Amino acid sequence: MRVLSGIQPTGRLHLGNHLGAIRQFVDLQSRAECLFCVVDLHAMTLDWDPEALRADTLQIAALYLACGIDPERSIVFVQSHVPQHCELSWLLGCLAGFGELSRMTQFKDKSRGRESVPFGLFAYPVLMAADILAYRATAVPVGDDQRQHLELTRDLALRFNARFGETFPVPEAFIGKVGARVMSLQNPSDKMSKSAVDPAGRIELLDPPDVVRAKVRRAVTDSGREVRHNPETKPAVSNLLEIFSLVSGEEMSTLEARYGDSGYGRFKADLGEALVAFLAPIQQRCGELRAAPDHLAAVLRQGAERATALAEPTLRDVRARMGLVAGG
Ligand code: TYM
Repeated sequence: MRVLSGIQPTGRLHLGNHLGAIRQFVDLQSRAECLFCVVDLHAMTLDWDPEALRADTLQIAALYLACGIDPERSIVFVQSHVPQHCELSWLLGCLAGFGELSRMTQFKDKSRGRESVPFGLFAYPVLMAADILAYRATAVPVGDDQRQHLELTRDLALRFNARFGETFPVPEAFIGKVGARVMSLQNPSDKMSKSAVDPAGRIELLDPPDVVRAKVRRAVTDSGREVRHNPETKPAVSNLLEIFSLVSGEEMSTLEARYGDSGYGRFKADLGEALVAFLAPIQQRCGELRAAPDHLAAVLRQGAERATALAEPTLRDVRARMGLVAGG
């Protein structure tokens, strides 16, 4: 099994990114060869600020390590440091259709109401396919919202293989049973998101303890007083229970038994503390890593070298199969 995944450096990482993606990355690194990248080129598909992009890219790399990704075991790198991603993106783009790219829900959502839609936003899922296929990855740990992009990646791999001969394994999405769709604390029918304007709906991994407590205190709940897991009738409380269970490691049934009838107050107070305890070591380690920029730069340099050594043979094969003349 070879694993690849990535996170965009747009805004700050939140609990959804951790529980849906990073938690699985950490888990998989003892079982598979893993590559984790900061997908900086994907963060340029809508308006961006160059200084913020630079800072966020380093912040995400530091958070990867702070959350437990071990650069001795996994390859940690920045997407733009490995130019093979862009090259493969063009080559795969020549096999992708206008219709299928227009149907991507994230493209439809993000382009809606814009006077001018950047080509990068349209081409986004092809670059994501290139990220994965450049390494012939077989498993892609992601949250539920990336399912459709993964389907497109699989279609492009199959199309390439059918036309040019068996080249790419068809990668599987690796989506957790719980945590794959962490919802907003303010509106449980929307996913927790980096781009929502109001930060009250998301717990950011670097939120200070008092901010975490306040966001949990202000989280919306459902009618009634019982703390029960039932996403249909109690979507808000079910979301909080899932978060509680994932960050504390306690079974949902244990939490229901403890808080079931004692009202929302104590439940929320304890959830706030559980989150603070969960985030504290991540925040401390992240601070240490940001204070040692040379170390982080060396990790990323070495990661890019290792990633390039894996991607270049794939590209050599792809170029030849597609009819490009070998260079000197
Ligand atoms: P991005 O940066 O939006 O999100 C990073 C990861 O976090 C997951 N996620 C969530 N999981 C659970 N609940 C949520 N509320 C939540 N919000 C986000 C996402 O599903 C994702 O796994 N296109 C990708 C980045 C990408 C990529 C790739 C991923 C580029 N190339 C190659 C895998 C492989 C994205 O925008 O993720």
